[in-house]
Amino acid sequence: MPDRTDPVEQLIRSWNANAVAWTRTVRSGGIASRKAATDAAIVSAIVGRRPRRVLDIGCGEGWLVRRLTQEPGCATVGLDGCASLIAAARASDPGGDYRDLTYAEFIANPDAVVAGVDVAVFNYALLESRAVDLLSSAASRLAPGGVVIVQTLHPWASAGSSYRDGWRTEDFSAFASSDEAWAPMPWYFRTLESWLALIRDAGLALETLREPAGDNGAPLSLLMVAARTA
Ligand SMILES: C[S@@+](CC[C@H](N)C(=O)[O-])C[C@H]1O[C@@H](n2cnc3c(N)ncnc32)[C@H](O)[C@@H]1O
Repeated sequence: MPDRTDPVEQLIRSWNANAVAWTRTVRSGGIASRKAATDAAIVSAIVGRRPRRVLDIGCGEGWLVRRLTQEPGCATVGLDGCASLIAAARASDPGGDYRDLTYAEFIANPDAVVAGVDVAVFNYALLESRAVDLLSSAASRLAPGGVVIVQTLHPWASAGSSYRDGWRTEDFSAFASSDEAWAPMPWYFRTLESWLALIRDAGLALETLREPAGDNGAPLSLLMVAARTA
């Protein structure tokens, strides 16, 4: 029986409720920071490594997987726990490889997903409080020399009134399509120190930290590239 007060359960429920609005918003360019810098930043961070295999974890409606199919010799697998988003991804890319899998299912059986990937990417998809098992499962899929890439809200721009780890609620009101009927989404805020500790605890070492920015230089996201330590 799911615990309806558990933020992780609420998080998954919110994606099922928001799948149509999310797909419309992403595909119509309704998230200003993505258009301004962060889509290009994640694509460049991945493509710059000339990967042959990529695993997009929490791929949503699949825009990044579709974008990477334009790169010669790059095969990408997308996984997401929201069946409606996976259905939207498959409908737009019938030849694509999309797996309907929750993070808990992935952690329980990482072998269900392709191994030997050059990049495992989380683009705004690490939203839970306990993320170390998820990151280390992602790391377990890497080929030698592979990296995990995480793009997330910049902690200094998204802290709100308290710069402390903790659950927050996204109401999506900043999106161009804020008139859609959005279900609030719980997400777990981490300070910069906590992000770096999480990466270390997952057996990874930070290679690069970038702060994709808008015209005025204010950071629009935090983008971390990390490799396995052993
Ligand atoms: C903010 S969206 C980002 C989607 C995509 N990466 C993008 O760049 O548009 C977060 C995604 O994480 C997925 N997600 C969140 N929690 C999950 C979980 N526990 N298991 C599987 N997917 C999850 C959601 O379904 C959603 O597609």
